[in-house]
Amino acid sequence: MVHFSTRAILAATRSPEVHQAPSAIPIYQAAAFSAADAEELGDVLTGARPGYAYSRIDNPTTAALGAAVAELEGAEAGLAFATGMAAIHAALVSVVRAGQTIVATQAVYGTTRDLITRILAGLGVAAEFVDPTDLAAVDEALDRSGAPVLYVETVSNPTIIVSDIAALADVAHRHGALLLVDNTFASPFACRPIERGADLVMHSATKYLSGHADVLAGVVVGSRERVDACRPILVDVGGALAPIAAFLVLRGIPTLAIRMQRHSETALDLAAWLRNQDMVERVHYPGLPTDPYHAIAVRQLDVFGGMVAFELSGGQTAGQGFLDAMRIAERTASLGAFRTIITHPPSTTHRQLDAEALKASGIAPGLLRCSIGLEDVEDLREDFELGLAAARQAVAVAT
Ligand SMILES: Cc1ncc(COP(=O)(O)O)c(C=O)c1O
Repeated sequence: MVHFSTRAILAATRSPEVHQAPSAIPIYQAAAFSAADAEELGDVLTGARPGYAYSRIDNPTTAALGAAVAELEGAEAGLAFATGMAAIHAALVSVVRAGQTIVATQAVYGTTRDLITRILAGLGVAAEFVDPTDLAAVDEALDRSGAPVLYVETVSNPTIIVSDIAALADVAHRHGALLLVDNTFASPFACRPIERGADLVMHSATKYLSGHADVLAGVVVGSRERVDACRPILVDVGGALAPIAAFLVLRGIPTLAIRMQRHSETALDLAAWLRNQDMVERVHYPGLPTDPYHAIAVRQLDVFGGMVAFELSGGQTAGQGFLDAMRIAERTASLGAFRTIITHPPSTTHRQLDAEALKASGIAPGLLRCSIGLEDVEDLREDFELGLAAARQAVAVAT
């Protein structure tokens, strides 16, 4: 008979035998998994046989998330990461080397731009930013730079530009480059870039996939070979997702379709309403027939999504006045949650950009970006009415 401490350790670490499938994926909150013998441990660690050894390398709950997103995206394989940025970093580093160039969309998420221009540039990777809707410019940049990768967002942050994935995949492949697509804004419910020729697709699962603003996570999906090339980066850099975080994203996925439909319906209603308001100079929403990306969106997106941006006359003063008046919408920088979120990109998500870069990215000083939530549309409209009145007043006081 062993003594008490030993008994406690053995008693509390004995895995339950479960022969029925649980209705939710269990949280395998374990740093490591024991092997039956030394040979099994060696085999699992070297990948000679399937299994789990250490959760930075692989974990059943995080693996279930990678596989679920791959299935929704129509991809062969998927790998989960601690954040969307860890996923984007791994995807990019798996395809570029020092001395090579990344051709990326101009209107890319600010931190992705930083990753490319600060971190990867410091390691000898060059970058060229292009307008993803100008296929001739993309073609020319790939030709001139010999870049091995073209990086775009299905729907871009924050100006809601819809990139034509099939056309961009064609251009990239003609130059022997891979197409990497950040599909965060669209979600796999609205668009599946792999079906249109993308080679790797990344998500900030922090957003629509989880949908509840209570977790950070990222996913990369693609062919088994391309995803396998990302795994050493996950293992060596250590951006592994916590099992409980994977569980929270998995809990959001079954309601993704119903949430995306509701986000899209409400967003279209508000975008159409905003277009008729006197303070509003421009509305960016691909669901509006007048939007420059409407035709591509109709071809490529199953729903138009929950992201709406609009520009107020009166610039920054009007934008901040609107934001300060919100009673229902949350003032923060994230997106894709059940609650409506409004942000002012020039002073938040894209604050790294100077005036010239902001202009090049199409970000006006009075731009507000909304992630439309699941609230009742009448209440949001009322909140926006308050915002417009406050914006009008802020401009009147300032002039
Ligand atoms: C389009 C897009 N991609 C990637 C990211 C990064 O995701 P995370 O915050 O999960 O690292 C974000 C975050 O806002 C985003 O909006």
